[in-house]
Amino acid sequence: MEIILTHEQADFDAAGSVLAAWLLDPARIPVLPKRRNRNLAAFIDDYKTRLPFFTWNNVPKGKIHRVYITDTQKIEPHSRLDDVRDYVVWDHHPHRHVFPDREENIYDPTGACTTFLVEKLMEKPGLHPGRIFTTLMLMGIYEDTGSLSYGSTTPRDIRAAAWLVEKGADLDLMRRYVLQPMTDNQQAGCERLIQTMETYEIMGKNIIIASADIRTIGDEFSAVAHQLRDMFNPDGLILLLAVRTGVRIICRATTDDIDFGAMMRTMNGGGHSRAASGMIQVEYMEIAEAEDVLYDAREAVLENLPNFIKNQPPDLSGKLNEQIPAEQLSLIHNVADCAEQLDMPVYIVGGVVRDLLLSHPVMDFDIVVEGDATRLGQQLISQYGGKLVTHPQFFTAKWQMKNDMSLDLISARSETYSSPAALPTVEMSDIEADLHRRDFSINTLAVRLDGEYYGKLLDLCGGLQDLQDGLIRTLHNRSFIDDPTRLFRAVRFEQRLGFEMESDTLRQIREQLNGITGLTGQRIWHELRLYCDEEYPEKNFARVVQLGFAAQIHEALVWNEQIEQDCIRFRETVPGKFWQNLSGFDFDLVEADGALWTWLSTFPINTVTQISERLLLPKKEQHCIEGLSMLRAEFPDMIRNAPSEITYFLERFPSESLYCYALFCTEPELDILKQFVNTWHRIRPSVTGNDLLDMGVQPGPEMKNLLTMLRSACIDTDIQPEEEIEWIEMFLKRGLD
Ligand code: CTP
Repeated sequence: MEIILTHEQADFDAAGSVLAAWLLDPARIPVLPKRRNRNLAAFIDDYKTRLPFFTWNNVPKGKIHRVYITDTQKIEPHSRLDDVRDYVVWDHHPHRHVFPDREENIYDPTGACTTFLVEKLMEKPGLHPGRIFTTLMLMGIYEDTGSLSYGSTTPRDIRAAAWLVEKGADLDLMRRYVLQPMTDNQQAGCERLIQTMETYEIMGKNIIIASADIRTIGDEFSAVAHQLRDMFNPDGLILLLAVRTGVRIICRATTDDIDFGAMMRTMNGGGHSRAASGMIQVEYMEIAEAEDVLYDAREAVLENLPNFIKNQPPDLSGKLNEQIPAEQLSLIHNVADCAEQLDMPVYIVGGVVRDLLLSHPVMDFDIVVEGDATRLGQQLISQYGGKLVTHPQFFTAKWQMKNDMSLDLISARSETYSSPAALPTVEMSDIEADLHRRDFSINTLAVRLDGEYYGKLLDLCGGLQDLQDGLIRTLHNRSFIDDPTRLFRAVRFEQRLGFEMESDTLRQIREQLNGITGLTGQRIWHELRLYCDEEYPEKNFARVVQLGFAAQIHEALVWNEQIEQDCIRFRETVPGKFWQNLSGFDFDLVEADGALWTWLSTFPINTVTQISERLLLPKKEQHCIEGLSMLRAEFPDMIRNAPSEITYFLERFPSESLYCYALFCTEPELDILKQFVNTWHRIRPSVTGNDLLDMGVQPGPEMKNLLTMLRSACIDTDIQPEEEIEWIEMFLKRGLD
């Protein structure tokens, strides 16, 4: 493959010479750099579908054998050029001996590089490059020769320009993009305009509006607009010119975020997004005061303009760099680089973007790629090492690195639900579908990572606005029908972020509550458990009761002041050290689910059992909650009993139940519990069954009873080990008497 390259910050001569080199042999790939000067960028933007240029991003795969370099002797390094040795240089600057000399090289001091390449085209019989191509090449010659006026201009430039005009180059079109010297009239008008110039800040864009009465001047003013735009470099320039029939409007933009073409179409005109003109007709213009007419025109333009300025998505690159921990950030850059090489748009999506925008800490990343996640993963391991675990059926891959870090790569997908509450059917798709399949608008934000798009926010569902307004909003009416777990998620985000349910979303929640009955116990339990990870679990519980979700699980699941107080005490109590005395205690489980147990255990044991069965709770958790429920019901009445009775009562419960109970109960129950944990439950007589055998006690229930009574005596009275035998003998004697 052969390619044509030119210098960075390409101008018309660079693009014109690349185009001419391509016309000489269309098998070559004409590549322009991404950085272009403003005039060229505007032209390419307006005619991109009719121009043959590539950028490095979309140069076809394959080995590059030869590179043609035009209008420069310096090219930027690129990995695809590493093995290339065959360079041909076509330049009009003095020979700098950078590339090896060879016969095909040309260093020809014409005014523009395009000129001598056009000369080669002139030798090709029957070539008709067409209006756009010839105009671009003509602009190359015009720009580098100051419209054929610089001292460096050669007769050959003028001849090449003439040939291009003969072949159809459009001077009107050219004038829109290449700076023209101004006439005296234009100069005078320009000065008037500068005096009336005002700068406005509209939707983050810097807009200059200038007006003048040019009825006595009557010249062509697009060159003036061009000149003013280059002098002041605003995002948008609008000239209002009072002419015989009304106000002529000339607009120039230096950004694609303003669409002057569309705006002028609403004002009796038209044009391109960056260069357009229109007209406000004024009756009786001959008697109207120009000042009044221009004032009205300015008002009309100011009113109309915001409709044609694109809401520029925020650039989150700064936030990414500041808020993402360095190690993860460097992974993200690796992903971005590989995705760019593969020409695959890649994004971080969902909760992480929401949290970035809210300046909350960010932890997990969902990396979504438009295309095959496995392919991206393979590129990553080929460049940075590590291992790839793929799940082709789910369109996901996990990149595992040597330092134990890993990153999930997900192919953008669409989802369809065959029936309410069923798990979705997934298909590979684009980012748009991937965002539209999601639950709430605030979770549909994406930040693009590859190449020049790094940090650009993609907001297809109004997520940013809802984030600013503090609203939880579903994307469509069926959201909760498709997936009723979203009901619980809506509450979680609402409570976590202090947001409100958007009114239509609230209506859907109320109408679609019964979807919960179609959910499996595990799915509901999973959602309820997630509340325990929130800062205030009890607010979530209260809300699911208030919204009626809880009643769909079990009609007895209520909420009241007392339950709330218990949950708050559970959350706020710092456990004492004495808990280390309980063995076999699953602290992680209590931490994960204890808040939920506190709520569920407020109900009678039968209800707890029914709820546990509905939610298909693991047996261990069911026992813990049932235990808690019994403690609540029975323990307060026990506290005046003998310590041994209390001990035997408490020993029936899982230690996790006791621990949770201790976190929300108050004195005197708490004090008794502490005595049990610290002292009573550890008290064992030193006398054993063997000792009793020696004393003539027969094995069996009698011996067991005796040992229990001995233990009770040890707990309730202060019997010392050496007194135990005496106590037994006395007991046996008394028994015999
Ligand atoms: N999602 C969804 N419907 C669900 C579950 C998840 O649409 N029932 C989407 C959401 O867009 C969400 C993304 O999948 O942002 C990832 O899900 P998850 O990790 O649960 O959500 P996060 O927003 O990251 O929540 P958290 O901050 O609690 O981790």
